Amino acid sequence: MRYLVTGAGGFIGSHLAETLLDRGHEVVGVDSFNDYYDPQLKEENAAALDVLRLDLAREELDLGGFDGVFHLAGQPGVRSFGHVFPLYVERNVLATQRLLQAAVAAGVRVVLASSSSVYGDAERYPTPEDAEPRPLSPYGITKLTCEHLARAYAKSFGLDVVTLRYFTVYGPRQRPDMAFARILQALQDREPFEVYGDGSQSRSFTYVADAVEATVAAMDAGRGVYNVGGGAEASLLDAIAVAERVSGLTLDLRTTTAAAGDVRRTAADTARIGDELGWQARTGLEDGLRAQWEWASTRVGAR
Ligand code: UGA
Repeated sequence: MRYLVTGAGGFIGSHLAETLLDRGHEVVGVDSFNDYYDPQLKEENAAALDVLRLDLAREELDLGGFDGVFHLAGQPGVRSFGHVFPLYVERNVLATQRLLQAAVAAGVRVVLASSSSVYGDAERYPTPEDAEPRPLSPYGITKLTCEHLARAYAKSFGLDVVTLRYFTVYGPRQRPDMAFARILQALQDREPFEVYGDGSQSRSFTYVADAVEATVAAMDAGRGVYNVGGGAEASLLDAIAVAERVSGLTLDLRTTTAAAGDVRRTAADTARIGDELGWQARTGLEDGLRAQWEWASTRVGAR
């Protein structure tokens, strides 16, 4: 198959593109290589890939000749109040609308990356896909808007689209603004890590290779919306204890106020993706964090 991966210089997108290549597909990546975080890291992520530099919100994209599009490009990060909001509108809502329009024009199937952030402090736990979405962060609101756009294009123009709600993905190449990347960096550098709130917030942390498997399965046979969440829920303090065990180091913890936009808890109900696509998370937190620690350790020399 011939696939396009948007956000191929990013964390999940680069892993996905490599996996598709490994499986014998033809893959074209696009990425704007913007400076939300160090673009050099994105260049490293994309080193083994063919990635076009393109800003989906502004430049034209012709999807003719592709069998499917994985739309992973976007402006991530739940702590998204304030002056940064226009970036979320442009890189999530506008970029996605243009991508969907191009997919309709070319008759191409789309897998859309959404987020557990659409649930906010969820109606119930574990949270199934039909729980009422009520995002707490501007980021989550823009991701939910993207889901609504996809549904509108499906209804009005027959767009073939599957939506994935990823739950806090981690592993090698994790974005440097995310908790585990910061924790491991702080351990390496013997620097403090700031916990937002008391550390009891919890997540269905999801290992990146598992997220990639779910994404490929969704393109192959998915319909509608799926949660992609790790099997075991852990608090941030639990995860820090695992990181300390894996690294053999002790973290210098500082606490600060809880961050606006952060949810207390995410817990994925993955029955739907299990039943329909046969997917389940396979990587436990300790194995996954060890892999991320090993990757981070190899990067020390590169800094
Ligand atoms: C993550 C991603 O950043 C989003 O892009 C994604 O859409 C979202 O997961 C999702 O699952 O929907 P988040 O759960 O906040 O968002 O992931 P982390 O940045 O890894 O944070 C995990 C927890 O650690 C949060 O409670 C956060 O407040 C906390 N944290 C993070 C800190 O205490 N200190 C930090 O320096 C960073």
